[in-house]
Amino acid sequence: MLIKKPSDINPSEITPESVYKNRRQFIEDSGKLLLGAAAASALPSIANAQTGAGLKARAPATMRRSPPAAWWADKFADIKPAPDSAPFYTGEALTPYEDVVSYNNFYEFGMNKGDPSSNSGDYKADPWSVEISGEVAKPGVYNLEDILKPHDLEERIYRLRCVEAWSMVIPWVGFPLADLIKRFEPTSKAKYVEFETLVDPETMPGVRSRFAIVNWPYREGLRMDEAMNPLTLMAVGVYGDYLPPQNGAPLRLIVPWKYGFKSIKAIVKINFRETMPDTTWVDLQAQEYGFYANVNPAVHHPRWRQDTERRLPQTLFSRSRIATQPFNGYGDQVASMYEGMDLSRYY
Ligand code: MTE
Repeated sequence: MLIKKPSDINPSEITPESVYKNRRQFIEDSGKLLLGAAAASALPSIANAQTGAGLKARAPATMRRSPPAAWWADKFADIKPAPDSAPFYTGEALTPYEDVVSYNNFYEFGMNKGDPSSNSGDYKADPWSVEISGEVAKPGVYNLEDILKPHDLEERIYRLRCVEAWSMVIPWVGFPLADLIKRFEPTSKAKYVEFETLVDPETMPGVRSRFAIVNWPYREGLRMDEAMNPLTLMAVGVYGDYLPPQNGAPLRLIVPWKYGFKSIKAIVKINFRETMPDTTWVDLQAQEYGFYANVNPAVHHPRWRQDTERRLPQTLFSRSRIATQPFNGYGDQVASMYEGMDLSRYY
C-alpha cells in the first residue's frame, strides 16, 4: 500500500481472453444465463454480468481446492446462495476468480500483488485455532472446527475497495461476525474488537524479510457496533470454494464499507477490549490511515485518489475509472453508526 502509484496498471490486471471464454464455469446456475456462450465470449462486460436470484458463483473446476480437512467438505456442501437484492448482492459484474486469487495484498507473503499467490506454497491453514480473550465470559483457545460448527455458510457478493483506488466485486462464503461474537458473551466493558493475524516466519517470507515495514502481527480492530453490524462477515471461502492462502485462509474478516486493509486475513486472535486498539496501518502512518477507514470519496489521501477507483480487471472494454461511493455504497446500512461524527477528522 505504501509504494504503488494510482496510475500504475499492471499488465496482469488485463484479463486474458481465455477468462471470458471460461465464463460459464463460474456460474453453475445455467438456467439463469442470459446469453449464449458465443455472445458471452464476444462481449466481456456482458459475459461478466451476474444472473439474478439464486446465483451460485463457483471457482473454475480446474482451480477448485481440496478441502483443508475432511470436515470442511461437509461445511461447504450446503452454502446458502446470495439473494438477488442489496445489501448482500451488488448487481455488478463479478471480478473473475483468477483475478481475485492472483492480485492480492497480504504483506506476510511479500509486498507485490503476485507475491501472496506465488509465495504461500508452504503455508498451512490446518490445523488452526483462534484465541478468544479480554472482555468476554467465555475466553479460550478454540479449534476452527468448533468455531465454525454452529454456523451455516452463506454466499455474499460485496464490493471490495482498496485504499490504493482499485476495487473488485467478490462472492465470499462466510457467516455473520455478530453470530460468532454472541457465543463468547462479551461483557458490558467490551467496546472494541481487536484481531490479529498469524505470524509464521517459516511459511511467510514477508514476515522473515529484513525489508518488512509491518511490525508483526498484522492487527486490525472494529468498534463493537461495527463488528455486530449484519454486513460484517467472517469469510472462510470465495467463489464457493475454500479460501486460498493468498485470500486469508482459513478465516478472515470482510467489512465491505471500509477500505480493504480493515479486512484482516488468517485470524488467530480475537480480543475484546474497553479501549480502541492500536492497528497496523495507524501505527505505520496515522496521517494517512485512520482507525475507522470508512470508504469516503470526500477524504483525500496523499497518494491515491479516493473519489474514483479502477474496477478490476481492466479490459479494453472497461471504463478506466468509476466513481467511488460513500461507505462503498453501503451507506443505508451503516451511515447511522457515525451520526454526529466529523468523518474528515475520524477517517
Ligand atoms: N491482512 C493481513 N494479515 N495482511 C495484509 O497485508 N492486506 C489488507 C487486507 N488484509 C492485508 C490483510 C489489504 S491492504 C487489502 S486491500 C485486503 O486484505 C486485500 O484482500 P484480497 O487480497 O483478498 O483482495
